[in-house]
Amino acid sequence: MTAVAGVAMANEPISPIAPVKEINLAQVELGKKLYFDPRLSKSGFISCNSCHNLSMGGTDNLKTSIGHNWQQGPINAPTVLNSSMNLAQFWDGRAADLKEQAGGPIANPGEMASTHTLAIDVIKSIPQYVVEFKQVFGDSEINIDRVTEAIAEFEKTLITPNSRFDQWLLGDKDAITATELEGYQLFKTSGCVACHNGPAVGGSSFQKMGVVEPYKATSPAEGLAAVTGKDADRFMFKVPTLRNVEMTYPYFHDGEAETLTEAVDIMGRLQLGKKFTDEENAKIVAFLKTLTGDQPSFLMPILPPSTDSTPRPQP
Ligand code: HEM
Ligand code: HEM
Repeated sequence: MTAVAGVAMANEPISPIAPVKEINLAQVELGKKLYFDPRLSKSGFISCNSCHNLSMGGTDNLKTSIGHNWQQGPINAPTVLNSSMNLAQFWDGRAADLKEQAGGPIANPGEMASTHTLAIDVIKSIPQYVVEFKQVFGDSEINIDRVTEAIAEFEKTLITPNSRFDQWLLGDKDAITATELEGYQLFKTSGCVACHNGPAVGGSSFQKMGVVEPYKATSPAEGLAAVTGKDADRFMFKVPTLRNVEMTYPYFHDGEAETLTEAVDIMGRLQLGKKFTDEENAKIVAFLKTLTGDQPSFLMPILPPSTDSTPRPQP
């Protein structure tokens, strides 16, 4: 899939978010419906938007997500906003791209708990979906590959350009305050930009959580080691994007840090061996809040109704 490239900026480690290119609008409209459709879950109750709520920065704002039958998941839900810019998907990068990722939650017993066969049966039983798939893909085949392709295409549109910080990068020197600018300077001089950089301010590498001081993890997640099997990759997590970070609390893969103040303090100590004063911390937090961009905006999709033959929600 096409990654969203940032606009190249001279001398700054962070670049503005560029508009999406090469988007298939018909697929986006279909993918939007599927993203909001809880009938892709066994219970008929959980949609992608349940855990990646587009009214809340593309997250659920929970420590770890709640899935099928009220199951508490093992890990914090990352935002879907700007996720097309990630080098891979999931905290441990086990899915190469958004299309590969989207097949996971539908059949994950702790998340939507359906099966791909059941989800496809549901879609095939709804005539308006049948018509729309045909319009979008050119023939009447409906399969999980096409479902995930459409969802991924919709997700590519979930970018958040035009943050105050981007306006500043593009030359509007009044777009951020003096305190926010000092926060950005601290973010650069302290070394945060070594890992949080580029258009997504993260998402471009895997790094160890706990470089200088070990992290006391509260979840069983092992990071990249779960994918590579290498001991050296234990606690290597995908560096999260800091775009819209003001909205995506709580923080870290286990959701242990409730506030940005706490997350910045932990990052300073564990990643850089640096204890920020309260004043320095507040400035960095003020800078991070300038990274909130324009949130996706669209008409709420109206989902085509089920029919007599649609498989019913199950406990
Ligand atoms: C991860 C999309 C359903 C919870 C992700 C990521 C994406 C995504 C793109 C990776 C983000 C990143 O790595 O930065 C979707 C889509 C869904 C869906 C398209 C519907 C088909 C759900 C549901 C839940 C959920 C229903 C909660 C029950 C999570 C969690 C992760 C995640 C906990 C992190 C898992 C890990 O890294 O091991 N999702 N999601 N998602 N999502 Fe979803
Ligand atoms: C996570 C800020 C330095 C790698 C985070 C988060 C914030 C943050 C707010 C939480 C984001 C979220 O959960 O959505 C900062 C600041 C830094 C800094 C202000 C400078 C003081 C670094 C450095 C590295 C790094 C130098 C790499 C060596 C990571 C990783 C995570 C993370 C791997 C995810 C950790 C996990 O979830 O277990 N950072 N960061 N950060 N950052 Fe940083």
